[in-house]
Amino acid sequence: MKQPRHFISLHDLSSDELRAVIGRATELKKHRDPDYQPLKGKVLAMIFEKSSTRTRISFEAGMAHFGGTALFLSPRDTQLGRGEPLADSAKVISSMVDCIMLRTFAHETVTTIAQYSKVPVINGLTDYSHPCQVLADMQTFFELRGDIAGKTVTWIGAGNNMCHSYIDAAMCLDFTVNVACPVGYEPNAELVAAAGKHVQLFSSPQEAAKNADLVTTDVWVSMGEEQEKQQREHDFRDYQVNQAVMSQAKPDALFMHCLPAHRGEEVTAEVIDGPQSVVFAEAENRLHAQKALLEFLICN
Ligand code: CP
Ligand code: NVA
Repeated sequence: MKQPRHFISLHDLSSDELRAVIGRATELKKHRDPDYQPLKGKVLAMIFEKSSTRTRISFEAGMAHFGGTALFLSPRDTQLGRGEPLADSAKVISSMVDCIMLRTFAHETVTTIAQYSKVPVINGLTDYSHPCQVLADMQTFFELRGDIAGKTVTWIGAGNNMCHSYIDAAMCLDFTVNVACPVGYEPNAELVAAAGKHVQLFSSPQEAAKNADLVTTDVWVSMGEEQEKQQREHDFRDYQVNQAVMSQAKPDALFMHCLPAHRGEEVTAEVIDGPQSVVFAEAENRLHAQKALLEFLICN
């Protein structure tokens, strides 16, 4: 059996393939042809252990645009929530659909499903990474500023799932990420070691933002970390993207945030609603980037 291509990490695509998917996403955005239905009759299963607005709607709308169908599945309503083994679930689900997208707590849930799936598996966010969002962020940067190779991205905040996918993107697309985070919240040490010159750790957000082409951040408390809310609000209080931080970056630097955002915490309203912010373009690009990804994975 031919092994399916998966998208669990940005590393699952070569740099050339990533650039091709990004270019294709922009093309699909510019020229929407309702008669182009490459996924007619195809089915995407979407398994969500966590909440979602953007991920669910963009995949569901994307499948509809392409003539296919998306199934929303939650562990609560399927046997997944009652402990059916992941290997069995993967074999069963992949015998009936053409692609599986999952949003889970444990990253291993996605890798195990991929191991036993006959069809492509897409990571729609795990505790470890969020490659679909960073793919859309890269599309947004390429559209507004051209290729990101050689540029500097500043990440302010937790070394979390989004931060990990930014580090992966830096390796794949050849840019540098300056990460400013409080002690104890650093990104995965193995990933940082593997990224070598592509990542630099800072304790000061202002230092990290110097000469940046893109400044980005994320919530202080991710899904599943709610019990740490109080501690995190204390630990992250100096890690906010505000005008003082943005003024260290290049004058034409962009601001991105995967959303949902907490104004007054990780970012001020002035920045996220200001002229350098492209957060809604990023959100819309989830649709276009994932349509290009689905086409690449299912049609190729
Ligand atoms: N950025 C993102 O993944 O948003 P949702 O949680 O709404 O899917
Ligand atoms: N880091 C956030 C991203 C949400 C899209 C979380 O995991 O909750």
